[in-house]
Amino acid sequence: MKPYSVSFNKRSRLNRMPEISHKTAGLLQPLEPDGLTERLSASLMIENDFYPCFDWTFPPPLLNKSEAPASTDELFMHASVIPDAFSLYLHSPFCKSLCNFCYYTIIPGRGIEKAELYVDYLLREMNMYAEVMQDKKCESIYFGGGTPTFLDDHLLAKLFEGINKNFNLADNAEISIESSPGTLPLGKVELLRSLGVNRLSYGIQTLDEKLLASMNRHYSVDEALRELDVALALIGNVNVDTMYGFENESEHALQDTLQKFYDLGVPSLSIYALDRQRDNKNKELGLPPKDESYADKIRIFSEADHFLFQKGYRQILQNVYAIPGKSTYRHQVRRWDNLTLVSLGVAAQGYAPRTPYQNYPALKSYYRAIDEGRLPIVTVDHLSAEMELIREVSSQLRFTQIDLDSIQHKYGVNLYIVFADLIDSLIELGYLQRELNTLRMTPSASYYNNIIPMLFAPDAFSQQLLGLPEEYLQAFPVPSVMVQVGCTQSAPIEVSLCE
Ligand SMILES: C[S@@+](CC[C@H](N)C(=O)[O-])C[C@H]1O[C@@H](n2cnc3c(N)ncnc32)[C@H](O)[C@@H]1O
Ligand code: SF4
Repeated sequence: MKPYSVSFNKRSRLNRMPEISHKTAGLLQPLEPDGLTERLSASLMIENDFYPCFDWTFPPPLLNKSEAPASTDELFMHASVIPDAFSLYLHSPFCKSLCNFCYYTIIPGRGIEKAELYVDYLLREMNMYAEVMQDKKCESIYFGGGTPTFLDDHLLAKLFEGINKNFNLADNAEISIESSPGTLPLGKVELLRSLGVNRLSYGIQTLDEKLLASMNRHYSVDEALRELDVALALIGNVNVDTMYGFENESEHALQDTLQKFYDLGVPSLSIYALDRQRDNKNKELGLPPKDESYADKIRIFSEADHFLFQKGYRQILQNVYAIPGKSTYRHQVRRWDNLTLVSLGVAAQGYAPRTPYQNYPALKSYYRAIDEGRLPIVTVDHLSAEMELIREVSSQLRFTQIDLDSIQHKYGVNLYIVFADLIDSLIELGYLQRELNTLRMTPSASYYNNIIPMLFAPDAFSQQLLGLPEEYLQAFPVPSVMVQVGCTQSAPIEVSLCE
């Protein structure tokens, strides 16, 4: 068996992936509404580690990739469904140390010495987008990493100066930055505030001292809480990242951690299930990742979900909870409604209308592209208008819910007509709930949280999956389920969009 990419729906865009052959192996089963419920219930009888993994993209990284565009004009050749706005992502790969669970491409420790040069390149890349964005307002900025607060004050100031010079910020723009304990002294918080930062995403992970000590994060619970205190007082709009699913985790570690953050008045909390892509033993065998603690994670997640709801938090995204009115989460939510996302920095993933793209993941090729006057993009996908619509539908369904009226308004498509039988079957199986014109997945759909939304892909896409090598289909549940279920569209999709 060939060593295909390690997983279907995670950070495998740049891993080796199978070519989809145009000679498809056979036709999708025709839609027989009566048999759809049975086919679904049989095909979904799988258990794997896909939920609640935290990296997920639609369309999945299987489409044949295209070369990078020659210019921003080419990248932005399609009209946007939200024409007068965009959001901005900046990536800083530097961290104090490499946490032992993290598989992001980061540059730890002394690597920070490269930051001065890196920031210069970020500013040059930023400038490449200035003209094409000049008549649009920037609604939100997300400065992520890595640990961007590990950058020196003067570099942060330089970057914000660049942003203000190159882009028009909306008056009420949400400006977020990621941080982790040990990089957020009082002076840094004051600087961030003066630069306009109005939201902080702070990764503490756990308040269990023993568990924290096993993560290679080099700070104590007290230090984290002292910094958090200052951030809450000066910025207020703070999200804290927590994690669960570690082998050495005590039974109530997550619950106790969440209780403490609630007591401290943290208005927004993210709960991440540990994702073990880096030490997946099945990787060499070319098999799909298997997670022994899968059922435990589902249980811990459900308990946390219940606890947070009782305390007044509401689910904003699949793993993010916030107290209404006390925090904002605009940038992350808007990532899924096809708003243009200009993304800068190594490995950054952006979205131009109908064209998701990704930057070079290595500093050397990233710098070389910019030196040659090219956008540092390594790969793009070209989406049809219907795939763009489904990008929004499947992402929103997975993360929260879909509002059928707003889809109709934005794309001119009545989803209830196009996917009538699929929606009815999923409701009958107890995986989907419909309240007026809102569709939302039920708790019993949790196991299939990454798969069910993809069933809303157009049949043409599932048909294409039939061209995947047989062993790939066998190994990776999502494409396999999509193909086994057969047709899911009850009617053609006619997207009424301008080209
Ligand atoms: C992009 S990281 C950056 C945040 C910041 N550097 C920190 O660690 O506090 C965002 C969050 O992803 C989560 N994360 C990182 N690696 C993970 C993994 N292997 N599985 C699940 N969550 C992970 C952590 O909760 C982390 O705070
Ligand atoms: S500080 Fe954050 S980004 Fe850096 S290694 Fe740790 S989890 Fe990953």
